Amino acid sequence: MSQEDLLQNFKEIFKTDNNPRFFFAPGRINLIGEHTDYNGGHVFPAAISCGTYAVVQQRSDQKLQFYSMNFPEQRKIECELADLSYNADHGWANFPKGMIHYFIESGFSIPYGMDILFYGDIPNSAGLSSSASLEMVTGVVLEELFKLEINRLHMIQLGQKVENNYLGINSGIMDQFAVGKGKKDFAILLNCHTLEFNYAPLELTDHEILIINSNKQRTLAASKYNERRAQCEQALSDIRTELQVSNFGELTIKDFEQYKHLIKSEINRKRAKHAVYENERTLLAFQELEQGNIQGFGKLMNESHVSLRDDYEVTGAELDKIVETAWNHPGVIGARMTGAGFGGCAIAIVKQTQIENLKEKITENYTKEFGFSPSFYEAEISDGAKEILRGDV
Ligand code: GLA
Repeated sequence: MSQEDLLQNFKEIFKTDNNPRFFFAPGRINLIGEHTDYNGGHVFPAAISCGTYAVVQQRSDQKLQFYSMNFPEQRKIECELADLSYNADHGWANFPKGMIHYFIESGFSIPYGMDILFYGDIPNSAGLSSSASLEMVTGVVLEELFKLEINRLHMIQLGQKVENNYLGINSGIMDQFAVGKGKKDFAILLNCHTLEFNYAPLELTDHEILIINSNKQRTLAASKYNERRAQCEQALSDIRTELQVSNFGELTIKDFEQYKHLIKSEINRKRAKHAVYENERTLLAFQELEQGNIQGFGKLMNESHVSLRDDYEVTGAELDKIVETAWNHPGVIGARMTGAGFGGCAIAIVKQTQIENLKEKITENYTKEFGFSPSFYEAEISDGAKEILRGDV
């Protein structure tokens, strides 16, 4: 959908002739470092060029009107600045509402309401952070429209708060961080405990990152996600009976092997193993990329998937099929699931000349087994959330 189309829709839906402002926040992929963020480890995500657009005008009263081109059946959703409490009937609009709520709670002045039209070209519920994108685009709308002095990290933390406190998903900080601080052609190595980060240029020579959407409905993903987190917390508390450590990101593989017997449940031990080993893999992967060794990087991606499949148990048959097909294909140097799992997307680093063949092979194998087909996107690594000028898209 072009900017002109969005403008046209905005004017019709909100019955206005005013010229609105345009904002954009990307989605993200995670190259490696999965389910490590809430365990105090490292992640290595990058923002992508699909994302969420917001077309906005300020109102002169305190009313908020939201409309999503992705959910036209839900029509215009309205509320007042004075009542931003969670409302199940408001569906997707709880994301921007939650963001505005936490801005106000943090002391930022939002004196007027707004009309906002949203349009996202990231597939929903596919593990590419459509929700963080919606939160962060709302964040930059508020920052720019009301000239607020908010630093980006604070905005990122408010986005996470929407997930944790407003929507009840105990997610970590990775998604909002990647969406908020993405940089064109760079991935971000983030220490989720200290929040220190480094940008790493994504130089893949004649390879590209292919995103493969399993198109599998992610049922119960939120409750399974929260369950994984609780299992890690239990495992940590078992370890802490003898070892002073504040999170799994602080634990080396050697220490883990020495103290893992303290973790009472076998399942929790597997979850903790993933968290510790995945953190080390992520640091190694960063080094491999810095040294230009993309083969080494790809091997670590593959190991990450195996660990998510066997120890963390979040991949599922569909993602496994996609990833295994990719592993067996010429020109693929690494493939793994990306995001929370339980369905959603996988990524593969593939030689450009092999991309079309790989898509065909995955479609064939996958459709034969599951009766529906996957979708593909070629990832372009982009900047984080920002205002865009007309004609910029
Ligand atoms: C989701 C969460 C993130 C992170 C990933 C798994 O995307 O929102 O915080 O935990 O899953 O790595």
